Order: sequence, then structure tokens, then C-alpha cells
Amino acid sequence: MSEILAFLKTIEDEAKTAIENASDKAVLDSVIYSYLGRKGKLAEISRGLGKLDPQSRPQVGARLNELKKRLTDLAEKKTGILTSTLTSADTFDYTLPGKRAFVGRRHPLMQTVDRIVNIFRGMGFSVATGPDIDTEFNNFDALNTPEDHPARDLSDTFYIRKGILLRPHTSTVQIRTMQAQKPPVRIISPGRCYRSDTPDASHSPVFYQCEGLFVDEHVTFGDLKGVIIQFAKDMFGPRIKVRFRPHFFPFTEPSAEYDFSCMICGGNGCRVCKNSGWLEISGAGMVDPEVFRAVGYDPDRVTGFAFGMGVDRITMLRYRIGDIRLLYENDVRFLRQF
Ligand code: DAH
Repeated sequence: MSEILAFLKTIEDEAKTAIENASDKAVLDSVIYSYLGRKGKLAEISRGLGKLDPQSRPQVGARLNELKKRLTDLAEKKTGILTSTLTSADTFDYTLPGKRAFVGRRHPLMQTVDRIVNIFRGMGFSVATGPDIDTEFNNFDALNTPEDHPARDLSDTFYIRKGILLRPHTSTVQIRTMQAQKPPVRIISPGRCYRSDTPDASHSPVFYQCEGLFVDEHVTFGDLKGVIIQFAKDMFGPRIKVRFRPHFFPFTEPSAEYDFSCMICGGNGCRVCKNSGWLEISGAGMVDPEVFRAVGYDPDRVTGFAFGMGVDRITMLRYRIGDIRLLYENDVRFLRQF
């Protein structure tokens, strides 16, 4: 009796090793067949049970059944491993949702700049740039801004030191471009600007503008209107309306402020347009002869128009963002929406 139990133990060890070492499904199948099959080793031993003395039979029979079960379980597990492409078949749940990789993207302000640039490129404008830190001359004097103009005040403009400042508008690039090249000039200049403003929902001490300048012979205010209207339609759709209101800027004469019809309510009046149906975009006008003189252009030969554009404003309208500060806080929960 102990001999037969010892024999079963040998068979068990042998079968376990064979199952564990099976390198593929075919090998495993033949191992299963030779131990657990109808004509396999365990079946053969089973058939010989009758020859044992009746007292030992139940114990050996039970041991045999237990062995069959253990080897069957082991063989099933091994089949699972060999037929799965994954090695950790028991621990990996492939029905769980995957981990989503966060893909970075252009900041909404930069997406708007790209769109603005694209539209103006289509109208023959090229991009010009200038530094954020510029001279008081390029920023104020050459732009015909009087010595006592309030914008020059320390309370409005950040000065690095006397005569050097963080530009409060991109109009400096008009001067730099005209100083560097002869007419005709047809540029836009997107860039960062700085003003000593307390942040609130519609003010940020850092913001973006896009300047435009077109100088040639016979450029008219009609050309300015045509370009701005075309831009408005390309940016916000064919139904948008544009209006120009008389205004004053030192660097243009005549000057205007221009508004777009509110694209949130379609001009009917809502919270965003404060029930007026119109949204102020920025200023524009015909380049003042004094500005041409400051850069060495002949005001009797050339005329030109210039305009500004609030990139933050356009971004907020485009994406319905209610607070400008969101654009500068760099909170990914906000940024990943765009
Ligand atoms: N620089 C003006 C501002 O920051 C905007 C502006 C107005 C730009 C008229 C222009 C212009 O080029 O012609 O408010």
C-alpha cells in the first residue's frame, strides 16, 4: 500500500514537471493525453485498482481522484497561460479602461493668434515682430504721443528705467518696421503687452494685441474698413456686422474705434454685450503724417491705415470665456478644454 502511494507521488511529480515545462500548447496537450487521457497513466492505474486488496482500495482510490483533480487544474491553468498573449494572465484585466495619456496643445490665445495670422496672410499681410521691452521713443514719441499724455504715466506703463519700458501696445512694431523698410508695408504684429492694471474679469496686466499696418500710395479709409470687415467675417462667420465710431488716437487721423456685432446673442442684446448688441474690439485709423515724418516716410507720397486688435477679447468671444485671468493662470483643467 505504501508502495503504491509512493508510486502515485512519483507520477504526480513527473506530471507536474511535464506540465510546467510544456513550452507550447501541442506539448501540453500530449502531456495531458499521456497522464489524464482515457488511455493515460492515471486511467491505467485506476483500472488496476481491482487487483488491490479491498482494504487499501478506498484510500488509494481517493488519492487517485485527488491527484487527477490537481493535475487537471494545473493543466487548465497552464493552457490559459499558453493561449494568452499576456504572461500575467491571472492578474491582468483587459476589460478595464486604459490610462488616457494627456496630449499637450496650443494655448487658446496662441490658437487665436494662429487664426488671426492665417486670415491676414490670406489678405497679403506678413508677420512682423518686435521686443516686449522697447524704447519710450518707439512707443510714444514716434507715435506722436504728447509729452503729457496720461498713457506715459508710471501708473499706466511699466518702466524698466528712464526711456525704456514694457510696451503697453504693439504699435511700437509699426515704427520698427517702417524704420527698417521702405514702403509699401503690409504687416500684422501679434504680441504680448503690459499695462499697470489691477487684474479683474476683463483686465490683466499682461495681455495680447495684434497690430496691423498697411502703407502704400493711395491707401484709403475704405481699404481699412474692407480689411476689418473681411477679417470679422472670416473669424466669426458671414453674419457678423462691423461698425466704426469716431475716436482719437495720437498716431492716426482720422481715428476710430471699431465694434463687432455680438456673436453671442446675434446683436439682440445680452449680458456679454451689456445689452448693446455690440462688442468693442479696438482702435484704428489713417496713419498720422507726423508718424510718417518720425520714421522718414514722405507723407505727401504715401498714406496708410493702422489698427489694433485685442487678442484676449477675441479669444474670450471665440471660446465663450468669461474671465481673462483664466488665460494666464495656466490651470490644466481649464487649458485641456481647448
Ligand atoms: N494702440 C492702441 C491701443 O492699444 C490700439 C490702436 C489704435 C492701434 C489705433 C492702432 C491704431 O494701430 O491705429 O489701444
